[in-house]
Amino acid sequence: MAQEWTPDSWQACEARHLPEYLDRAALADAEATLSHYPPLVFAGEARALKADLAEVADGRGFLLQGGDCAESFAEFHPNNIRDTFRVLLQMAVVLTFASKRPVVKVGRMAGQFAKPRSAPTETQGEVTLPSYLGDNINGIEFTPESRANDPARMVRAYSQAAATLNLLRAFAGGGYANLRQVHRWTLDFMGRTPWADKFKDVADRIGESLDFMEACGVNPETLPQLERTSFYTSHEALLLPYEQALTRRDSLTGDWYDCSAHMVWIGDRTRFPGSAHIEFCRGIGNPLGMKCGPSLAPDDLIRLLDVLNPGREPGRMTLISRFGDDKVESGLPPLVRAVAREGHPVVWSCDPMHGNVIKSNSGYKTRPFDRILREVKGFFAVHRAEGTHAGGIHIEMTGQDVTECVGGAVAISHEALGDRYHTHCDPRLNAAQSIELAFLLAEMLNLEASAGQTAAA
Ligand code: PEP
Ligand code: CO
Repeated sequence: MAQEWTPDSWQACEARHLPEYLDRAALADAEATLSHYPPLVFAGEARALKADLAEVADGRGFLLQGGDCAESFAEFHPNNIRDTFRVLLQMAVVLTFASKRPVVKVGRMAGQFAKPRSAPTETQGEVTLPSYLGDNINGIEFTPESRANDPARMVRAYSQAAATLNLLRAFAGGGYANLRQVHRWTLDFMGRTPWADKFKDVADRIGESLDFMEACGVNPETLPQLERTSFYTSHEALLLPYEQALTRRDSLTGDWYDCSAHMVWIGDRTRFPGSAHIEFCRGIGNPLGMKCGPSLAPDDLIRLLDVLNPGREPGRMTLISRFGDDKVESGLPPLVRAVAREGHPVVWSCDPMHGNVIKSNSGYKTRPFDRILREVKGFFAVHRAEGTHAGGIHIEMTGQDVTECVGGAVAISHEALGDRYHTHCDPRLNAAQSIELAFLLAEMLNLEASAGQTAAA
């Protein structure tokens, strides 16, 4: 039988990628402050997301999860939140329209601060300092003061997450997401991409459908879903002192929930058997994601699923594969087969970002858009061949017109990367590249649907 779980039982396990805090009193202060602050989400909302994801696991929907690699204090601005939300809505419209299935929208937002880093230190010239670990831990500026871990940053991150979530809730419920607005969502710089016309075409057809429905008496008064949408938040549950401080017992069920986000995930570097991150996540009731990269053996995956979802509850687990475009078609099938053989209900989602990072000649870390598309195609091809549902996409993106990933229809060259390279960590798709990806996904979903019909015939 598994050992008893408590919100702090992870502290007895091996923890990788957690910051060391020299000032223990300051850490205790920050934890005490956070543990008295209101939860950011309610357990019932996490259960609603789990129910939506259960539908996806069963092949009746698609998960769209996206946002910054790392949110930052510097980029905290209502326009940035609005633009990312808007691009996610646009992508969801394209996907819903093509697949005729619900799209579950989850932001990598309102808490996605902490980052696992490949090296603990960074050297510039003669100077070596601790690596930047995310704005909730230390600062990006390359000075000893800024790179010192500061527990008070967790409290500031909480405040930013609360304000971000507040605005997201207003957008989702207050009329901004009204499908009648679908034309107005078009961003100025989308006008330059060939995909803008395609989006306008989808928007026109949605408008016609709404006119028709209205003539039949279906309008926002009779069907409130027409003017609001469900939007959930998520982040990597990396910084466990923060997650623990926001973990609360649900008064309705008596179960524990991490109330820092609706969904949290375990990263590729912290999902080893027996890890502190696995221990923490097994005891919370939220839907969980887990990154699955090339180093994950099928047997280990099954052992982890048995720990994280012993009751095989549908919607509990989303497996986010991130192999790289050259490895997905060989690496993913053994995992998909093992999961199917063991009867674990999961959502399979594709992160085409983290296996496709290269260093550009211009010195910037980038991701070629064609590799991203190739990984997505490979992911769908594997699921078509295995007869399983390609259930979701997990991307690092922003609504801003940044130049961080090379390629796309409005081709960003290696030389142009420096123009608007703003990310605090990994390179993100910009708005135009995100929409372009949505249309590719729509094509893939149609292929999956027609393969299903052929199989059923
Ligand atoms: C991330 O999602 O930002 C990340 C670090 O991914 P992974 O754990 O897959 O490397
Ligand atoms: Co990243």
